[in-house]
Amino acid sequence: MNYNVTAIPGDGIGPEIVREARKVLDQVGRVYGHSFHYTEVLMGGCSIDAHGVPLTDEALETARNSDAVLLGAVGGNVGNSKWYDVAPNLRPEAGLLAMRKGLGLFANIRPAYLYAELASACPLKDEIIGDGFDMVIMRELTGGIYFGDRWTKEVDGVMQATDILTYNENEIRRIAIKGFEIAMKRRKKVISVDKANVLDSSRLWRKVVEEVAKDYPEVELTHMLVDNCAMQLVMNPGQFDVILTENMFGDILSDEASMITGSIGMLSSASLNESKFGLYEPSHGSAPDIAGLDLANPIATILSAAMMLRYSFDLDKEADAVEQAVRQVLKDGYRTGDIMSDGCEKVGTTRMGDLVAERI
Ligand code: NAI
Ligand code: MG
Repeated sequence: MNYNVTAIPGDGIGPEIVREARKVLDQVGRVYGHSFHYTEVLMGGCSIDAHGVPLTDEALETARNSDAVLLGAVGGNVGNSKWYDVAPNLRPEAGLLAMRKGLGLFANIRPAYLYAELASACPLKDEIIGDGFDMVIMRELTGGIYFGDRWTKEVDGVMQATDILTYNENEIRRIAIKGFEIAMKRRKKVISVDKANVLDSSRLWRKVVEEVAKDYPEVELTHMLVDNCAMQLVMNPGQFDVILTENMFGDILSDEASMITGSIGMLSSASLNESKFGLYEPSHGSAPDIAGLDLANPIATILSAAMMLRYSFDLDKEADAVEQAVRQVLKDGYRTGDIMSDGCEKVGTTRMGDLVAERI
């Protein structure tokens, strides 16, 4: 089969990690007889430099007309990049938000899995990790505070900034359904995370999630406040199977969960709508501090490509092969700097991509 993939390298380490994921996909193509055809488009800071906006209509259309999108990351140094002090709609991140919104990608799946080989890279004590860590964060991606109205103005001589957090019941229902569906394929436990003691949007969240739960009697539903969840993740990570949560809470909790897997460089993600189309990207950002140095861990992006094979192309065997190849590379003792431990061989971004591709 021929698959059309929009490749968006983006900024910082983006081009390096997307190159390695493509290398692995191409090897999958050779071994299993598929061909992946890539159309490369700009998004983020690089698009601002070339076109004056973080995402052009043409780039969005290219993505829309393809079978799936493979993305690196966008953005510069927070606080001191040339793209920072500009209007919100002209920042690199606005390109990504517009892409997610424009393609209706409301469901963000972030699996957090600790490979046994990386146990020593996990900062938690062995007795806390216990039998391992294997969970999924189902994060709502096109609503909430990241998409609410916002403004900054002076009130009585004092600067004031406002961000509005809104959810409607339909937005909550469709992500809740996705959360329960994925739980049905796993250990059938949903922990819905909110701040219902304070926020109205969280109260509605809780009510709608309860309603959806009635259609999934086999799934055990628990509610947890987000601050408690942040604590529980490092105190008793084994209790989590599926975390179902809104946009900003999911953003923050998934970075926390990523460290339990050893490094943010290990955490893949898929952003889906109701169709087979999806956008696949690592959960981390553009890491400007290590860009261009062959230091970035490409595994999160490679595992995101595996999710593309599984969710958008129904190529389960091929996705398994990629995940197995990653596992084998770790078994064979190769590590990028972020997951390095004693007795292992340190490799760069390019070599890590080669090692995974060789094992397909
Ligand atoms: P970041 O995730 O880019 O980096 C955080 C830390 O993790 C840095 O020390 C970085 O070197 C390290 N790191 C990240 N990915 C790594 C990898 N694959 N291998 C090894 N180390 C890795 O987050 P930060 O620094 O807060 O943001 C940098 C830029 O990225 C900002 O402009 C931010 O807005 C943007 N960003 C973009 C995202 C996206 O495109 N989806 C998501 C998150 C942030
Ligand atoms: Mg984030």
